[in-house]
Amino acid sequence: MKFEGKTYLIIGGSSGIGFSIAEKLIEGGAEVFSTSRDISKTFPGEKIQLDISDDLSDLNSQLPEKLDGVVYCPGTINLKPFSRLTDQDFINDFSVNVLGAVKVIRQVINKLKKSGNASIILYSTVAAKTGMNFHSSVSASKSAVEGLAISLSAEFAFSGIRVNTIAPSLTDTPLASALLSSPEKREVSAKRHPLGRIGNAEDISSASLFLLSDESTWITGQVLHVDGGLSSLRV
Ligand SMILES: NC(=O)c1ccc[n+]([C@@H]2O[C@H](COP(=O)([O-])OP(=O)(O)OC[C@H]3O[C@@H](n4cnc5c(N)ncnc54)[C@H](OP(=O)(O)O)[C@@H]3O)[C@@H](O)[C@H]2O)c1
Repeated sequence: MKFEGKTYLIIGGSSGIGFSIAEKLIEGGAEVFSTSRDISKTFPGEKIQLDISDDLSDLNSQLPEKLDGVVYCPGTINLKPFSRLTDQDFINDFSVNVLGAVKVIRQVINKLKKSGNASIILYSTVAAKTGMNFHSSVSASKSAVEGLAISLSAEFAFSGIRVNTIAPSLTDTPLASALLSSPEKREVSAKRHPLGRIGNAEDISSASLFLLSDESTWITGQVLHVDGGLSSLRV
């Protein structure tokens, strides 16, 4: 896909899905600003140091006047039985998944309005719509992400800003490493998916690139399930 002349901000571009998106956007000719809490790491794009729990009022001064898209990647997989989840677990998951996205979008909204055709992408999870053991905190937060996205897609439609959510199932990135730490775990996880495998960062970044691109200018307010069929098939 072609992205010449376009500029994107990837929050969390140092790893996993965000890293893969940044690589592909740059390959397509885009200018990419990419964040990490630790900019001594190696990752693609112009680096910005950012922790979403901080005050983000400095972010704007590090970005150009216009942005064509923002991708918000920080997320959590905090899986515990409900009886072991504390208030703080729910608050942490909400802060990283929802409040962080709110803070970023608030900072950059005027830059997105200058695009005329901008795209925001947030990430939910298959477990927001499909009940799974031990997912109550992450599912609550990711359902809030979907709620945020559908509401903002309405509010921003007349400003030429599309807002979509991608809901992945288990994807082989550092975030999911504890769930994929042995060949046995990987095999069991692969078998749970109708398409017979777990996801990889490219599966999710390809879908993300479509939603960032001019190939999707009539798509907003959607949740795209990229999950090997897990949420919708029985085979
Ligand atoms: N992987 C899966 O199985 C899976 C499944 C369903 C949904 N998702 C969702 O997909 C999205 C991307 O996940 P991923 O697997 O690519 O994760 P990842 O490999 O852990 O990457 C997350 C990125 O976000 C940044 N980040 C994390 N916490 C941050 C914080 N507090 N402040 C600032 N930056 C922070 C990380 O940067 P630094 O660590 O360098 O700061 C990193 O670049 C997440 O929203 C996740 O919930 C993933």
